[in-house]
Amino acid sequence: MDKLVIEGIGRLEGTVTISGAKNASLPILAATLLSDEKSVIRNVPMLRDISTMLKIFKCLDVKARQDGDTVVVDPKGYKKCMAPYELVSTMRASICVLGPLLAKQKFAQVSYPGGCVIGPRPIDLHLKGLEALGAGIKVEKGYIVADGRRMRGGHVYLGGHFGSSVLATANVMMAAVLTKGVTIIENAACEPEVVDLTSFLMKMGAKIKGHGTHRLIIEGVRRLHGADHRVIPDRIEAGTYAIAAAITKGDVTLRNAKLEHMVALVDKLIESGLHIRKVPNGFRVKYVKKLKPIDVTTLPYPGFPTDMQAQVMSLMAVTEGISVITEKIYPDRFTHIMELNRMGADIRLEGPSAIIKGVQGLSGAPVMASDLRASAALVLAGLVAKGRTEVKRIYHLDRGYEKIEEKLAALGASVWREKEK
Ligand code: EPU
Repeated sequence: MDKLVIEGIGRLEGTVTISGAKNASLPILAATLLSDEKSVIRNVPMLRDISTMLKIFKCLDVKARQDGDTVVVDPKGYKKCMAPYELVSTMRASICVLGPLLAKQKFAQVSYPGGCVIGPRPIDLHLKGLEALGAGIKVEKGYIVADGRRMRGGHVYLGGHFGSSVLATANVMMAAVLTKGVTIIENAACEPEVVDLTSFLMKMGAKIKGHGTHRLIIEGVRRLHGADHRVIPDRIEAGTYAIAAAITKGDVTLRNAKLEHMVALVDKLIESGLHIRKVPNGFRVKYVKKLKPIDVTTLPYPGFPTDMQAQVMSLMAVTEGISVITEKIYPDRFTHIMELNRMGADIRLEGPSAIIKGVQGLSGAPVMASDLRASAALVLAGLVAKGRTEVKRIYHLDRGYEKIEEKLAALGASVWREKEK
């Protein structure tokens, strides 16, 4: 297994190119299963999660290949409908093949996703939505076994204890586009990744009204065709590099990043004192003065994204004053706190809120995170920590950050990958 080694040296400068969004690519790839025709998906990041999805395609006898950032999927004639435990257990997002398989093959068997280090991640809303469309659902031997022979349009409210659900909206929408009748999804998630999926489905011939709103009205069609689509840029990767610029007192231009997808984060960074301005095809983040502490609460889009909570915490850990970060999507998503404290941060947890007392500096240490965004937070901390930081179990980072060490090194960071002994 690899680890990432970082020698904290300070200021990052230059331009980084933001890759396509992992969390848009995954459901869009799943949506290609709704057709018999070939689809071409562009701007797909080369990541472990994408390879996992392509492995699932292999199990389904669906031909797919990734060439650079382009994935060509040819689902012609595939009949299989089972996503195995070995793959689903490594990536929860595999659940998003459930809706397409059910709608296309009228039957699906997908391993029930297991627990997750960021806390309980139930799938009740996915199942509620599919049942509202008439799917028969059982759980057998650890698998969701779904029968779609009696499906027809339905009306469903997809709100849970923590608000809307990104992948439940994706799953139910993908099932509804090929299901006879009209389906209405209330409280649909509006994250840019859901909107991108909706655009792709519409290119395939799906009839969807309310695109980008909390109320989707879907009229099922008999057949969808293949489509050619370019995935939106990854707002979480962009946000992570924006924090890298801030934490190192640097000046970084994020090429391809879409400011309009990142309003809540940008608003908070500006409040803290960062200079952010739009440039052609991206935006520039520049440290101009001492940053101020900020309070952040994670919420569904357009609120502050939970996927940026850990990275902002690293920034606040070295920002003088007291900040409070409250997690309202995944109340247990705090595994990075202990590791940041091992590097000299002063953070304590009170219920769903982290109270962060900014310290003068951090010191490099061997650290380990068991979640993707927590790992990113430790890398950011390592960029400004004195001495050497080793982020272990780097496979989490490889799930979501394309060529992270190359991109950071190009901005002037001293960072490299080593084999763990
Ligand atoms: N929830 C339920 N029941 C459900 C589904 C979700 O109660 O059936 C709850 C969750 O437990 C959570 C909230 O609803 O409290 C929102 O979860 P959501 O379903 O929106 O999460 P997701 O769709 O499984 C996606 C991203 C996550 C991101 C969340 C929230 C993908 C592949 N994953 O997950 O990304 O944190 O939305 O924005 O799109 C990451 O990239 O690191 C990551 C974890």
